[in-house]
Amino acid sequence: MDRTKFVLSASEAESMAQSLGLPSVLHLLPALVQPAQNLARPPISNYHVGAVGLGSDGRVFVGVNLEFPGLPLNQSVHAEQFLLNNLAVHGCPRLLALAVSAAPCGHCRQFFQELRQPSSLQILITSEHPHQNLPFKPLSEFLSNPFGPFDLLDKESPLLLEPHNNNLYLKSQKNHENLRNGYPKKSDLDENLENSRNGFCEELGKNEALLRKEALEAANNSHAPYSGCPSGVAVMDCEGKVYRGSYVESAAYNPSLGPVQAALAAYIAGGGGGYEKIVAAALVEKEGAEVSQEDTARLLIKKVSPKCEFWVIHCFANENGYKKSSNFV
Ligand SMILES: *[C@@H]1O[C@H](CO)[C@@H](O)[C@H](O)[C@H]1NC(C)=O
Ligand SMILES: *[C@@H]1O[C@H](CO)[C@@H](O)[C@H](O)[C@H]1NC(C)=O
Ligand SMILES: [Zn+2]
Repeated sequence: MDRTKFVLSASEAESMAQSLGLPSVLHLLPALVQPAQNLARPPISNYHVGAVGLGSDGRVFVGVNLEFPGLPLNQSVHAEQFLLNNLAVHGCPRLLALAVSAAPCGHCRQFFQELRQPSSLQILITSEHPHQNLPFKPLSEFLSNPFGPFDLLDKESPLLLEPHNNNLYLKSQKNHENLRNGYPKKSDLDENLENSRNGFCEELGKNEALLRKEALEAANNSHAPYSGCPSGVAVMDCEGKVYRGSYVESAAYNPSLGPVQAALAAYIAGGGGGYEKIVAAALVEKEGAEVSQEDTARLLIKKVSPKCEFWVIHCFANENGYKKSSNFV
């Protein structure tokens, strides 16, 4: 069994369950928790959390916790958030059940509350039930009397994992050049680069265009109904592979998942190695966004990969685009 895989196809999951003598893929989830824990990256706590979930399309997804030395603890990513991000990145519309190595914290219970029909999500904690047979319990037993999307949003608003269209666009490249008066903001490194790395400039320009497009798509798919400030990040590694992450808001605000965290989780889930292999990153968010990711994103990117290029690109929303919910006060 490939222990570094973060996604198993439905047929892979079925044959793995069979080969382990398990009666169903649901039984496979707790069996994969420990291998998942080995993939976690918690250099501060050294507390490895693994979460393994079953998607409605039969695929099995892995989530692990991430911690970032040199930054506040609130920049950490929990395994459950990583798991949902992994489903989002792979276009899986629904999480049916998950097994996790330790009880989900309050923030993660709240984060799960962003899903459609959250109370039916089945959760098994492997550390509490090492020998029992599938004691899954619904989220409603972990989070009774919840506060969630429907306290703030219309019933039709898309929820986490559902398709989003934030109707975002960028000004054309031509306008973009004309408007270069601090827009997009150039990273501090840019000027040095222009002086010292002329040969690389063309490639840099191509990479910027690619990352801008990818980050725009990530922002277009961002779940930000509470602030109306979607954002997305795309990162490129030294082999030119691109990974992207969308900002995800929680109705309770603090459990939200930032776009850099989402992109780093996608990077790890996609087989990325050390963060220092990330050579360029782009953030797309709305100009003048009331909830802006720029400063935090720059800090996080520079901390995990100090030599990384970082571009901030401002986007615009079409009239009929994403607005704050009218119920929101
Ligand atoms: C995270 O913690 C730092 C320092 O403790 C604080 O300045 C920052 O506002 C916090 N960010 C979030 C998103 O809570
Ligand atoms: C935004 O998402 C919608 C729906 O998936 C898609 O039709 C549209 O082309 C996307 N726009 C951008 C800029 O990615
Ligand atoms: Zn948590």
